Amino acid sequence: MSFRQRWHERLVYLRNRPLEYLFTRATRYLGAVVHVPRVGYFINDARIAREILTDSAHFSISGAGGMGDFLDQMLGRPAPTLFNLDGTRHKQLKSIVQREITSRVTATRISELLSSDLQQLREQLEAGCEIDVVPFVQRISTLATAHLMGIHADTEHFEALIEQVSQVGHEVTRVIAVRSGVVASRHVRHAQSLYSGLEQLLVRHLEQAPQPLDSLVARLRQAGLSNDETQVLLLVLLIAGTETLSVGIPRTVAMLLDGGLWTECKSTPANVRAAVDEGFRLSTPSPFVLYSAVRSQTVQGYDFRAGRRVFVALFNILRDRRYIESPYAFRFDRKADPIWNQLWFGAGAHFCPGATVSRAVSHEVLSTLAKVDGQLRITGRRVARRTSFPGYESLRLKQVPG
Ligand code: HEM
Repeated sequence: MSFRQRWHERLVYLRNRPLEYLFTRATRYLGAVVHVPRVGYFINDARIAREILTDSAHFSISGAGGMGDFLDQMLGRPAPTLFNLDGTRHKQLKSIVQREITSRVTATRISELLSSDLQQLREQLEAGCEIDVVPFVQRISTLATAHLMGIHADTEHFEALIEQVSQVGHEVTRVIAVRSGVVASRHVRHAQSLYSGLEQLLVRHLEQAPQPLDSLVARLRQAGLSNDETQVLLLVLLIAGTETLSVGIPRTVAMLLDGGLWTECKSTPANVRAAVDEGFRLSTPSPFVLYSAVRSQTVQGYDFRAGRRVFVALFNILRDRRYIESPYAFRFDRKADPIWNQLWFGAGAHFCPGATVSRAVSHEVLSTLAKVDGQLRITGRRVARRTSFPGYESLRLKQVPG
């Protein structure tokens, strides 16, 4: 990683939540598993992380202080979000979601769906306009995720829905924090008022566009979810997808340009493909996965006591010299190792259902930018503050004829 690239990547964390960043980075010098009294265990090792994420008998994402618990507190009512389920119910709903998504994600479909937005992006850059990649990625990520769920862009409420997803997503994810597993009531009130506005838009959209019997909405209703529960799950999918992609893709673009790697990246389609995974590894859009130990267990010699929180520090793990050669370098020829490959999407029963669509969307953006004549230059950027998914709030690009 060049000095410029590393400097800007550091600023993404330091301007966001400096203490949380420095503290978590420091734990990696203290060991593979670090217990911090009253906070929990920090996991800094890929093998141990995989073992924890795949051991649902002892560790849970839905337990106190886990991701699912945060979402429950924000919603203020019980509704299945996948993040808050375990066992048979989780398996049943996850397989419906996964099946629907998989049947709708093909590279061609995603490319066709986003073609007019991508074409416009290219034309604007080639006409010399300045483009902000962050709102652009937010828009197409919501568009792609909505498509997977059978929500189409054909009602008057759709554009408003797209705009509000990122706004609400930002508020919801802001409250997930390392220091405490409890969300302050003022944050809950604020996020809930934004969330209910988004929910109303979704309801109006669904009323205007009745869902076919093979849509995700219909399948969830057949599985016994109420209207309210179905809407919650759809919105969680939309928010999870938009928040992570609008972090990962702009940071990948910034790393390539800051690192002077753009010409190499655009020189072959294979390099563009490789940049997708390397960009997600280095940007680690979800820097932590929050679990809790539900039963005491020993993993690779480390004891985990029931009732304590577990922070799988993906952004330490995915820069670990023990498993990854020159981990800070953005390499197009990196050989993926099964120990850490795709770990940015988690592992085990809760492995991200949006992994395939995420790779397809990132590939579409990078290959469109690669087709722009000449070079690209970053003309301005602003780091997002106080968010759980560190990234840019704005990243402006311009074409440099060459
Ligand atoms: C670069 C983009 C993304 C990254 C890095 C990412 C990362 C993650 C991670 C780390 C987890 C937790 C996995 C675990 O506990 O083992 C997760 C779960 C999840 N993600 Fe993603 N994600 C991304 C995109 C998406 C998209 C596009 C969607 C929507 C289609 C999505 C929806 C979800 C959902 C619903 C879960 C919970 C699954 C479950 O509990 O079974 N994510 N994601």
